[in-house]
Amino acid sequence: MSMLAALREMPRLSPEAARIADRLTALKPYQPGRPIEDVRREYGIVGEIVKLASNENPLGVSPAALVALAEVLPRLALYPDGGCHDLRLAVAAHLDVSPDMLVFGNGSDEIIHLLGLTFLEPGDELVIGDPTFVLYEAAATLAGATVVKVPLTRPGLVHDVDVMTAAVTEKTRLVIIANPHNPTGTIVENTAALYRLMERLPPRALLVLDEAYAEYVYHRPGFPKALDFVKAGAPVLGLRTFSKMYGLAGLRVGYGVADAGLIAAMNQARSPFNVNLAAQVAATAAINDYAFVEKSRAVNETGLAQFYAAFEAMGLPYIPSFANFVLVDTKQPCRDVFHALLKRGVIVRTGDVFGLPTFLRVTVGTPAQNERFLEALREVLGTGATPAQLQ
Ligand SMILES: Cc1ncc(COP(=O)(O)O)c(C=O)c1O
Repeated sequence: MSMLAALREMPRLSPEAARIADRLTALKPYQPGRPIEDVRREYGIVGEIVKLASNENPLGVSPAALVALAEVLPRLALYPDGGCHDLRLAVAAHLDVSPDMLVFGNGSDEIIHLLGLTFLEPGDELVIGDPTFVLYEAAATLAGATVVKVPLTRPGLVHDVDVMTAAVTEKTRLVIIANPHNPTGTIVENTAALYRLMERLPPRALLVLDEAYAEYVYHRPGFPKALDFVKAGAPVLGLRTFSKMYGLAGLRVGYGVADAGLIAAMNQARSPFNVNLAAQVAATAAINDYAFVEKSRAVNETGLAQFYAAFEAMGLPYIPSFANFVLVDTKQPCRDVFHALLKRGVIVRTGDVFGLPTFLRVTVGTPAQNERFLEALREVLGTGATPAQLQ
């Protein structure tokens, strides 16, 4: 019997604890990208392993953050500032918002968790696309709320905001759209449709625009920025992270930006020292490292072009991406292709977990890393043997 099942059977469990055990049992586990050392051990690979699985920055950490990190090391015996004072002021200045409109988290993952804790209770509804980033559903499930999934439009796998609007009811408390979206890399650009959605929301509901990949698209004219909606007083919360463009995924720091009252509620729910000292110092330096952002964006654009050209030459359909990863249709069971790539020292993500059983999601790496992946893919798909036979 699993631990949760055993917990559920305990005779002295209160009804509330039993309901929580049920929610935990219903939770779909988050499947992270396979760690490099894990793959090395399992497949006995000696040479370099290329991980293009978790949408990390292939250029590494922002150089400004690295300098700041070296200076903070001797201070790590101290607790961090629970209010993220310096980081708060730096981000507030960067976004031109009041500092009390920001909540910081242990990655934007934690802010998503806080959204569930703060805004959802049993009977409430969360509206999301399907497929989408898995943690949205987890936050609602933990809160005992109902998840309403609106299938993405095919074949382009885009959110149809008007169809999502039609799914809004009096019970809706949150609608979450990742823009750009994970796992598809697509964007919502229809500002009018987003306003129609907001108008339809019941009084206490919020539209959350998860902009984990915003830095890859914010330069696009007309892109509907969460920040502009927030500044206009619309019922929107924007989510951002330092894990992607700024290269700080390992430190875990992200933030939410919204009306100060909403933010105050979320700050009540978080643990006092949720963002560690190194993360605060590194993020404060990284936010103004424009040279690194520009370079990262350029490397990403080159990499996407490299992928598209290769996929077209191989006759593989793909979803054009506005982020740092792309979905490609291998036209084969993706698990087989995935394992054959692992054997060749290349880690990507399978689409089956998103209901896309022939797709792979591959992060844009350096040109050399991209080529390693493409060579391995050509080998796996191009021999005439099925990927299963190649393993
Ligand atoms: C859409 C989206 N939101 C949020 C996150 C979480 O990012 P982090 O917790 O590293 O800030 C990710 C990470 O992959 C993501 O793709």
